[in-house]
Amino acid sequence: MSGYTPGEQPSADERVVKLNTNENPFGPSDRVMQAIANIDKETLRRYPNPTADVFRHAASRQLGVSPDMILAGNGSDDILTIATRTFLAPGGKLVCPEPTYSLYTVLAQLQETTYGSVAWGEDWSLPMDALLASKADAIYLANPNAPSGTFVSPTKVAELARNFGGLLLVDEAYVDFAEDTCLPLVKEHANLVITRTMSKAYCLAGLRFGYAVAQPQVIHEMIKAKDSYNCDAIAIAAAAAAISDPAYYKEKWEYVKLERQRVSVELTQLGWTVLPSQANFILAAVPDGRGREAYLGLKRQGILVRYFDRPGLSDKIRITIGLSHQNNALLAGIKALTETPMAA
Ligand SMILES: Cc1ncc(COP(=O)(O)O)c(C=O)c1O
Repeated sequence: MSGYTPGEQPSADERVVKLNTNENPFGPSDRVMQAIANIDKETLRRYPNPTADVFRHAASRQLGVSPDMILAGNGSDDILTIATRTFLAPGGKLVCPEPTYSLYTVLAQLQETTYGSVAWGEDWSLPMDALLASKADAIYLANPNAPSGTFVSPTKVAELARNFGGLLLVDEAYVDFAEDTCLPLVKEHANLVITRTMSKAYCLAGLRFGYAVAQPQVIHEMIKAKDSYNCDAIAIAAAAAAISDPAYYKEKWEYVKLERQRVSVELTQLGWTVLPSQANFILAAVPDGRGREAYLGLKRQGILVRYFDRPGLSDKIRITIGLSHQNNALLAGIKALTETPMAA
């Protein structure tokens, strides 16, 4: 198998404009840094609480669901691994609308389960009929989707959950940059699992913390399939502090959304085609269709974006929305590409 290919992670002292792995351009809040500073030796000497209950209670207060509806993980990738182990048997079938987050197919391979892809409908709409006809045991739906940034309405997701007999996992890694969420649907649909991460909206990609929300009996089964101590004590304290500090983060999300709008408009004026995004990144089609050359041309100027050499994506680049001056550097870099012809 080829495995998952993570985005480039240059060392902290390399001077690049890093718009390639959808991190938040802001740092975590002071409350988070204080929670980390408050960790004492005794907390580190002992094993952590196996179910990260401090986080579950903090998240429960913010999300309006009971703590036993929450499962914490070492990043949402850990949650996705746990879900795959729990709900897909070897020989089973996972189906996703493609293109989407490329880890899903890797997880299916590791579980020796078949991976079936169904093409997105027109304008990245939910391919409802094809998904229902696919004989899947589980469907994973990134919403907003990566790398397109497009969004499927909770009404459509509810319809899919109602008509599908298997497990529907909705990966809400980017939901805090979107206009809506499928979270309220978990109370009505026992086959629905929502996954979230602290990596993007909560500025904590380096911490590794994510969580799932589902009905208590579903979470109960997922707990059986996780590593005993899958979250460390520092991450539990920091993630609990982050989710308890919504005022700080909401302001950052608004900034990112405004910049997303500005960059989308400016790129469109330069002749690029930009998909309407509800995430902290945009997928933009290069006017001459040469995605790899645009990616390499920007890289030569010290600007990192993400290029996927996959069907439907090779004429595009995915750009994380950064701080205003980083976005300006990107736009200048793109203008420079068109002024100096790109190398073949
Ligand atoms: C759709 C989607 N889900 C999950 C993840 C993983 O996030 P985490 O950092 O929590 O493992 C990513 C990261 O890029 C993602 O794009």
